[in-house]
Amino acid sequence: MLDYAALQQAILSLTEGEDDAVALMATVACEVHHADSRFDWTGFYRVVEPELMKIGPYQGGHGCLVIPFSRGVCGAAARTGEVQLVPDVDAFAGHIACASSTRSELVLPVFNGQGDLIAVFDIDSDQPDAFTDEDATKMAEIVASVFGRL
Ligand code: SME
Repeated sequence: MLDYAALQQAILSLTEGEDDAVALMATVACEVHHADSRFDWTGFYRVVEPELMKIGPYQGGHGCLVIPFSRGVCGAAARTGEVQLVPDVDAFAGHIACASSTRSELVLPVFNGQGDLIAVFDIDSDQPDAFTDEDATKMAEIVASVFGRL
């Protein structure tokens, strides 16, 4: 299992004093992506206008550029403000297949310190059922510790 305490510590040290959202997203995407071989695409979709997200910093193959709140796992996270843990993307109605190799996903809403939704953090795996409830909980803690400062 990934050492979440070490991952969080590394991210907090690297981003100390930084308050630029894109700089934070780039650093989180990089650190998380390289922390575990289960993660094949790791990145952010930023809320750019009501009900619409565009691609932000990511690691992995190219992603879709635009995702409306009405579509996909990312859209569901944005719409509901709740973490989406999808063990089998083929069983998720409306899943957006940016990469046909993706089998499972963990998508977390990203809020700033005022409680506004600024993005979603999407982690995709080529393995089925790659993510646990612990992954969801620990990733949510990391996201809150980094973006809650904005
Ligand atoms: N699979 C996501 C779309 C984003 S990409 O896979 C990078 C979804 O259904 O929301």
